[in-house]
Amino acid sequence: MKRIEIINGPNLNLLGRREPGVYGSRSFDAYYDELKQHYPDVEFGYFQSNCEGELIDRLHAVGFEADGIILNAGAYTHTSIALHDAIRAITTPVIEVHISNVHQREEFRHHSCISAACRGVICGFGLNSYRLAVESLLMDHE
Ligand code: DQA
Repeated sequence: MKRIEIINGPNLNLLGRREPGVYGSRSFDAYYDELKQHYPDVEFGYFQSNCEGELIDRLHAVGFEADGIILNAGAYTHTSIALHDAIRAITTPVIEVHISNVHQREEFRHHSCISAACRGVICGFGLNSYRLAVESLLMDHE
């Protein structure tokens, strides 16, 4: 049994309602249910917060036991050295994900403070970026 934690950062609680042209019209809850059904052998955990410190606390809490962490840090991706340090401080590999292709968007989204600390980066595949991240973690364990 693999344990995979999904952590979503600021404004991602509004998925489905927030800028649907960019992020789609599905709520994360609906997508998460489908994801769990698709991988019955994976034990998923899910956490969302709009607060940087709470994201760091969650990384600390699960980052020595989970087999993988999928992190969409939202806008903190582009600003947070504290998240970079938290990812480096834990032992669980972290996959950075983004729903949108941040490189096709505003220039301030082109830089990530966390990529260098992450195992890899997946962006631009809509909500299926999360599924691709699950696949990459399962492949790491093959
Ligand atoms: C995002 C991209 C970020 O630039 C943005 O601040 C988000 C969502 C994405 O999933 O595409 O909140 O991480």
